[in-house]
Order: sequence, then C-alpha cells, then structure tokens
Amino acid sequence: MPDADVERAETLLHIGDPIRGRQWQTALPDLVPNLDVRQWPDIGDSATIRYLAAWNPPEGVFAALPNLEVVFSVGAGVDHIDFAAVPKFIPVIRMTEPGLTQGVVEYATFAVLALHRGMLRYFDLQRNADWIAAEAVPTSTRRVGVLGLGILGGAIARHLVTLSFPVSGWSRSARQIDGVTSFAGSAALPAFLAETDILVCILPLTSDTRGILGAEIFAALPQGASIVNIGRGDHLDEEALLSAMDDGHIAEAVLDVTRQEPLPPSHRFWNDPRILITPHIAGTTSVAGGATAIAENIRRYRSKMPLTGVVDRLAGY
Ligand code: GLV
Repeated sequence: MPDADVERAETLLHIGDPIRGRQWQTALPDLVPNLDVRQWPDIGDSATIRYLAAWNPPEGVFAALPNLEVVFSVGAGVDHIDFAAVPKFIPVIRMTEPGLTQGVVEYATFAVLALHRGMLRYFDLQRNADWIAAEAVPTSTRRVGVLGLGILGGAIARHLVTLSFPVSGWSRSARQIDGVTSFAGSAALPAFLAETDILVCILPLTSDTRGILGAEIFAALPQGASIVNIGRGDHLDEEALLSAMDDGHIAEAVLDVTRQEPLPPSHRFWNDPRILITPHIAGTTSVAGGATAIAENIRRYRSKMPLTGVVDRLAGY
C-alpha cells in the first residue's frame, strides 16, 4: 500500500513492557515513515501523540493526550481499556497478529490433548512414583466445544479438527468453519454444551460473559466433562468449578487465567490435582507481528482506508 504523505509530527506512545517498547522504537519507524515512538512515562511533546499502544492504560491518560487519534490494544483482549474514558471518535483496535494466534492455538491444543490423554492424572501419579496406565480412547470419540468462535476461537477449532476431534463452536452469531458444527446465540447454548466433553473458553470478557463459566453451564455439560479457560479469569466462577468437581460432574480443568493474577500462593487451585494452572501464557503478542499489525493500521489510517480489528464498543470486543 503506498504511504500517504505525512507532514505533521506523529508519535506513537507505548505504555507497557519497556523491553517491547524499546524493540518497537527500533522496528516501527522502519515500517512507518515519519513516526516517532516513545515509551511511557517519557511522553515528550504530548501534542504530537496521535497513537497510543497499551494493555492497561493508566487512569487520566486519555485526558492528557489532546491529539490522540487511534488506540491500539497490545493484546487480543480490550477489557483492560476503560471505554468511557476514550473519546467516542477514537477507534480502539484489538491486536490481531499471527504469533498471538499461533500461541493460543498451541496452548489450546496442548490443553485439550492433556485432558484427552489423562495427563493431569499422570502428573499426579508421577509425584508418588506410581506407574498406573489407563486406556486411551480415540480423539474421534472426544467432543470438543469452543466457546467463542472469533479469530482465535476459529483458529483453535480448525486445528482441533485436524486431530480428528469432533469440534463444535458457539458464538453470538453463526460462523461457517469447515468441519466445525456452529451453534449461535443464547438459545443454542444448551444444545452446544450437551455435546461437549472438553469445553474451551476463548470468549472476550464483557458484561454478558463475566462469570459465564458457572454452575448453570457446568450442569449443562455431560457428566465427566472438563474445562479449558484461556479467556479471562473473570469468566470463571471459581467456587462453582470446585463444587462441580467435588460433585464429580466436572472432571478436570486447565486454567491459563485466574480472577486474581498472579494467583495467590494460598489459593486452593495450586494444589488441586484436578487443575492445571499456567500464568496467563497462552498467547502473547510477538514483537515483530505486533509491530507489523500496528504499522499496517497506521498506514491505512494515514491513507484514510478502513482500519482492521476495530472494536465494537457496544459489543465490548
Ligand atoms: C491476552 O490475554 C490477550 O488479550 O492478548
């Protein structure tokens, strides 16, 4: 795409990991001409800041940037951004880049295979040097349901199909993905859950989805179903999970996200052999992929072309 001429001073302010900030200070100006990149809190002349890239923008930052024009989330999720503080005319862009998608697909595949092959039990047996083999069943008999069929959920579903799992997906509106049975809307949720042995949550966190992994959903899953949460900790009602496990209805869970992060050392999840905890590592924005994605949108913006990954503020993702 040809670059539109830019005569005015343009700065992108990065708020977040200073290492990534330094890497973007080198990478972005090579991809976008006439762009200065600054790392918070060293903002320089605030009047030149047109772009903000942040995960969790501090309170008051939007009011301090009078000429801000585009906000980029450095992650796929935008739940850390207080939309009420971002002027309505400023588009908020979520991160979509291949490295992040690949990470999430790898993690979901790992988690589904770990549950499918009974790995949590083997991890526990290993602690006692217990050699007890269980029979494995084919993937074709284990139904996986992906809750959230956007870019990330769609990529997960497509990959699981290649491993011969029967895969279905649920989303607000119907999606067409080869080999994946699509369920759409709240009315279809019970039917989707009834056919799901491993439920993978990759929903965005919104007021509609907060606490969605709760008693009602667990009860609608078949006996012995398991949960993978790579959405947000606030999707999960932690007490409801433990009680569904104690009842024997839900078997196991792989949780990459928790309500409180880091998960406090005293939390019950740490020592529960039915639960595998990882520290929010499923997908992270790669330096190069993130820079390319931001650069592409800045070029589009300068050329007055539609931006990609624009968040629908009403939907919240
Ligand atoms: C990670 O959780 C992200 O939103 O990218």
